[in-house]
Amino acid sequence: MTTISEKVQQPKSTQSKTQVNKRAMNFPASWYIAMHSKDLGKKPIAIELFGQSLVAWRDQNNHPVIMDPYCSHKGASLAIGKVVDGCIQCPFHHWRYDSSGKCVYIPDVENIPPMARQTTYVTAERYGCIWVWYGTQTPLFSLPEFPSAEDERDNYMPVREVTKVNTPLQEAIENAFDYCHLTTVHKMQFSGPLQFTLLHEQHSVEQSEPPIQKDAWFGYVCKLPLYRRKGIIGAFSRALGFSAEFSTVRVDLWPNGFIFTNGTDDKVIYKELASATPVAENKINLMRLVLYKKPGNFLLDRPYISLIHWRIQATIAEDLPIWNTIKPSAGKVHVKNDWLILKFRKFYQNWVDKVE
Ligand code: FES
Ligand SMILES: [Fe+2]
Repeated sequence: MTTISEKVQQPKSTQSKTQVNKRAMNFPASWYIAMHSKDLGKKPIAIELFGQSLVAWRDQNNHPVIMDPYCSHKGASLAIGKVVDGCIQCPFHHWRYDSSGKCVYIPDVENIPPMARQTTYVTAERYGCIWVWYGTQTPLFSLPEFPSAEDERDNYMPVREVTKVNTPLQEAIENAFDYCHLTTVHKMQFSGPLQFTLLHEQHSVEQSEPPIQKDAWFGYVCKLPLYRRKGIIGAFSRALGFSAEFSTVRVDLWPNGFIFTNGTDDKVIYKELASATPVAENKINLMRLVLYKKPGNFLLDRPYISLIHWRIQATIAEDLPIWNTIKPSAGKVHVKNDWLILKFRKFYQNWVDKVE
């Protein structure tokens, strides 16, 4: 468990050019969590994102930089270089590049060729996460708002997770819309039909601003009617606050990630900020920041949160064997229960089409 960092950086207007065929990858233009802030120190590190090798490092202001790792001189990897005077220095002939990717120093050379530069991605740092914008030269929407990780963080216990999944990005995100699998895979039982409200389609009736900029937002609330458990398990559940009539799930999605709020009736149990970040075409890192609401009892907080954490991890473990072996292109037939997935697909495709 870690504390949440609040460093925020205005994105730099740099370019993200790539040799790979972006459209073929089917990733949407969006903000992705590249890594948790704690995983990037002073030393440059090699990372893989969007099917590319990249280098991540921090400049003199501690701002994260993500750039093409192969030096414009002779192609040495900057990931084994070092940061000198706020610039990344190539290990081979010591050319130095600033955070915009421009070469600013070559030993014994006065006129630096204008082509001496590295392509960089737009980055930002917030909620203890390093974010990277993919798909267009400048971001098309702002970072999601997740105030619980900032203003209200004393009320929550944060846990950061990275889960590696061998599945296409779209599949990992669609799981948030696949209600049929709750009963088949996760063995959940409900006492009646699930009730959905699509928030982005009726936003005028919402009091507060959505946490994601309007056209990049897909939001819904689902009320899941619960059985009232009897006996000892029922009494135990009620003592832990699981005795509600409904479990309520609110999901606020941007094209590759979501803010998930889970509770019972009016009580929040946990909130989660998650990004499905592609390492390559069928390889995803699920980057998650889970905020467990503390019951407010010093003795009870840890066991209560451990129990919920264990339950969530067990649920993900149930999904993994399916994700890791799925071939989505083979699935073509849909039924009425798939309506929410199909709606999401349109939204997702719209953001894939924006990739330049
Ligand atoms: S290869 Fe990088 S400075 Fe020569
Ligand atoms: Fe699932």
